[in-house]
Amino acid sequence: MDKVETIRDIHELLLNKENIAFVPTMGNLHEGHLSLVDKAISISKTVVVSIFVNPAQFNSSKDLESYPRTPDRDIKLLEQYKNLILFMPNLKEIYPEHTNNLYDLPPISNDLCGKFRPGHFNGVITIIDKLFNLLMPKSVIFGKKDYQQLFLVRHFAKHNYPKIKIIGGETIRNKDGLAMSSRNNLFTKENLINAANLYKALQNIVNQAKSGHNKKSIIGDNIKHLESLGWDIEYIEIRKISDLSEPSYKDSQLVILGAGIFKGVRLIDSIEFCIGQPN
Ligand code: PAF
Repeated sequence: MDKVETIRDIHELLLNKENIAFVPTMGNLHEGHLSLVDKAISISKTVVVSIFVNPAQFNSSKDLESYPRTPDRDIKLLEQYKNLILFMPNLKEIYPEHTNNLYDLPPISNDLCGKFRPGHFNGVITIIDKLFNLLMPKSVIFGKKDYQQLFLVRHFAKHNYPKIKIIGGETIRNKDGLAMSSRNNLFTKENLINAANLYKALQNIVNQAKSGHNKKSIIGDNIKHLESLGWDIEYIEIRKISDLSEPSYKDSQLVILGAGIFKGVRLIDSIEFCIGQPN
């Protein structure tokens, strides 16, 4: 593994490399990230993994400060991969200017997570734009756990970097079903077990929706149940996979998305599913 910190060094290493596969991360790597790295390795000989905790996408300085950072452990984990370039730029390399770009994102960026984290997706697209422009990768792998992020990155890339292929990697879960997330490290052992209840509720809603129950009322019941367990649920919604808009009774390719705060930690999750007859 090669580790570089400056734009000059990464450019030098990538000189004449054409088929770059890229995995952007904010570090505190877990099995979910490693599955994205494996996917990148399976499609390219030149794989870049970036670790950069991007201040532009955090809504509060408290959340930014408490975001788990484990650079030494991350480097150790990635050392097992031979042909990998780890890019760990510092803040000044990435944000030499002190201005924030405002991107023209589709309205869905202000819905779901965007409703509760104003400006978050503008911050995500800011760093993605910078990294895409710096690395000019051929493929980029994002986890499906951040479902709305993946949708907005695809939309952004389609219009601004049409040659870059955006690939979604499946969500990796622990034995209780909890989606792997860097934020899981903020839980005590006991709370970690109960954090899987969001996924269990989403699964329960999907199963009942598939058997024809009224979606609105099952969602309401499950939100009430989670709240009784100490969750502060931001939203649980069923949307169309194609554009994340609200489905009609005719739509069959669906995704359930949920976000909530449990013991002070914000978690999100989603499950794709199919209902009724395809159109
Ligand atoms: O999903 C993440 O970890 C971040 O949002 C990303 C894509 C690395 C951008 O900072």
